[in-house]
Amino acid sequence: MSPRPDAPFKDDLDLSLQRAMNMLVRGAKNRRSPFHTPIFATQGGVFGVDARTVVLRAFDPITRQIRIHSDARTHKNAHVAEKSNGVFVFYDPGARIQLRAYGPCDIHIAGAIADAAWAESQHFSRRCYMAPDAPGSDASNPTSGLPADVEARVPTEEETLIGRPHFSVMLLTITSLDWLFLAHDGHRRARFTWNSDGACDQNWLVP
Ligand SMILES: Cc1cc2nc3c(=O)[nH]c(=O)nc-3n(C[C@H](O)[C@H](O)[C@H](O)COP(=O)(O)O)c2cc1C
Repeated sequence: MSPRPDAPFKDDLDLSLQRAMNMLVRGAKNRRSPFHTPIFATQGGVFGVDARTVVLRAFDPITRQIRIHSDARTHKNAHVAEKSNGVFVFYDPGARIQLRAYGPCDIHIAGAIADAAWAESQHFSRRCYMAPDAPGSDASNPTSGLPADVEARVPTEEETLIGRPHFSVMLLTITSLDWLFLAHDGHRRARFTWNSDGACDQNWLVP
């Protein structure tokens, strides 16, 4: 790890939190940001835990809500329906910052939140939800799971509607954030926790 000048946030909890929030906001908007594709871990399944890569669709620094889209029939949705707590892990190698964002998740399948996200989504993205069988179902052949006639093209608006019942928005509200900054002369780690009134408790940890 090569030496580099100290980051202004290195020894400042408020600035570290500000930096974390900014990276999440920018990660949702910028497809090239490493924060755009975090790992999302849930409790459930054969091993009691599972984790997978997802796309960060939005982050609201006021509500502290992370938004992803998922097929309502997936294992992750079943896990969250049973045990709502999950964690997102983000790492930006250029910034040398890892975030672990913990909190309860809500799933929206019908209703205004899912409708708005569906309305904003591209037809090509909607195609993922057009598979007749649930993601993770056994298949007797190598398959995309999609109806054969839409495999090689973007479906029309009308065709995508078959996927709407499978589309869900998942929101995780961060109640605890673990911050890790890797630095040549000593790493820094901090924990930020929010109570139900939204008050934030912050403290340094030994990395
Ligand atoms: C780069 C990348 C982005 C992905 N984005 C999503 C996503 O936004 N939502 C999603 O449900 N699955 C996404 N996936 C697929 C998941 O990693 C996973 O395979 C799928 O959701 C089924 O997981 P589950 O059975 O644990 O629910 C993505 C995979 C990759 C490699």
